[in-house]
Amino acid sequence: MAKPLSILFVSSEVIPFAKTGGLADVSAALPQVVRELGHDIRIIMPKYAAVSDRKFKIHDIKRLTDMPIQVGEKTFLGSVKSSFLTNIKTKVQVYFISNEQLYCRSDLYVDPKTKESWPDNDDRFMFFSRGVIETLIRLGWKPDIIHLNDWQSGLIAALLKTEYADEPLFKNTKVVFTVHNAAYQGVFPKESFVKTGLPAKTFKMDGVEFHGQVNLMKAGLMYADAITTVSPTYAKEVRSSKDFGYGLEEVFKKKARKTYGILNGMDETLWNPEVDKLITKTYSAETIEDKQANKKALCDHFKLPYDPKVPVIGIVSRLADQKGFDLIEEKLEDLMKMDLQLVVLGSGEKKYEDLFTKAAKKFKKKIGAHIGFDEGLAHLIEAGADMFLMPSKYEPCGLNQMYSLRYGTLPIVRSTGGLADTVEDLNAKPKTGTGFVFEKYQAKQMLDAVKRAVSAFADEKIWTAAMKRAMAKDYSWGASAEKYIELYKNLLKKK
Ligand code: ADP
Ligand code: GLC
Repeated sequence: MAKPLSILFVSSEVIPFAKTGGLADVSAALPQVVRELGHDIRIIMPKYAAVSDRKFKIHDIKRLTDMPIQVGEKTFLGSVKSSFLTNIKTKVQVYFISNEQLYCRSDLYVDPKTKESWPDNDDRFMFFSRGVIETLIRLGWKPDIIHLNDWQSGLIAALLKTEYADEPLFKNTKVVFTVHNAAYQGVFPKESFVKTGLPAKTFKMDGVEFHGQVNLMKAGLMYADAITTVSPTYAKEVRSSKDFGYGLEEVFKKKARKTYGILNGMDETLWNPEVDKLITKTYSAETIEDKQANKKALCDHFKLPYDPKVPVIGIVSRLADQKGFDLIEEKLEDLMKMDLQLVVLGSGEKKYEDLFTKAAKKFKKKIGAHIGFDEGLAHLIEAGADMFLMPSKYEPCGLNQMYSLRYGTLPIVRSTGGLADTVEDLNAKPKTGTGFVFEKYQAKQMLDAVKRAVSAFADEKIWTAAMKRAMAKDYSWGASAEKYIELYKNLLKKK
């Protein structure tokens, strides 16, 4: 094998330590596969309150305690701790940057009381970004690649190309910036610019300035050596219009030649109905009838009547506008007139939490809702539901539709981003279809797709064949991890 690469993977969330969405799944799974392929990849993330020393066997790194880190006029002390991410095949080192004042809170990004971002998120993630660079310098570790993810680490790209441009340690280091969601950009008022510590000349259109404010995602996009998005379709969408680029579409356009769409994978060690410990009964395509035990358990969980002939539609999601809940709201009454049941697991915006809580009270025998975050229930829904609904307005990749395919739970999705790249419509392609796809972001189109799903469900032969095709799809990380490695290697060839 050619010389192994050294890679620092920087993320604001990683399972099992901290998670709000798919970023956490990706940030654990991709590094593990890259490690399996023989490379020295390590992860770095903030040490939030939920990251328990005892539970995760985290220990201090003595020479990395109380590092002074300057954020504007304030100096915060950061200490680095370490642990490992382990699965049956491999072990990846994880560094945690800690500071009690900044990270010991009940939620990662948002104050649960107000549902607004923490007011000092600029301090929190600017501290993190500088902390990452200082950690490398103190460790004397020279990664070939620093792989950044989303706005929380975007500043690192800008710092490396300015303040640290002459730092010998990073002379040959290349920076990759992955966009998981262009709608969340880390935008702060212009007063926050001094906190970045960046030279004044970077506060301009060609730098980190965005309509007079500081934009940390833009910092990542402008200064990284390569950009990736989490699906090929999303790479095209973000430069196509404001609906996807959220004001950064011109930047995406400008950087098109440096941008690569690489589809996320799924962690087969966690999401596999043949070995899943969190479901009632494991099953495979050969023992597909055992899926029923999960459907029964799911109905019992939500106190819904169980009937094998009535399709159960599952939803597991952040309850955010992105995910298309306004379409469901618009057609809820029509959906309830149909012979189906709906189970929802999610948390987020209050209007959607209220929508499903009220609906579950009103349609006791047809809707089950659990507002909150529950890993076990998420698995049971994937295993027990017949269909999985993701009518997203946009979806950079989406992991749940891939999990659903693997569990033989046919996805009903809008054709956008990673949903378009992973689900084939059964009506359009009866021989290869694995789900139900609608084009326009319109409630009627969504309802029609649900109707098509319900009518296909009534034909057992058609349905079982589609389930088996879905379960045979391979969306594991192998191929995508190879693409990242190829990208890393190509960058390192460039001067
Ligand atoms: P996003 O990252 O936009 O939220 P993804 O589909 O990429 O969407 O990933 C969502 C991940 O978060 C999946 O692993 C999903 O199972 C999980 N998830 C979302 N909401 C919940 C919840 N309320 N309880 C448990 N898991 C959840
Ligand atoms: C983001 C996106 C989601 C994607 C995930 C992981 O949260 O909303 O579509 O799957 O990141 O990349």
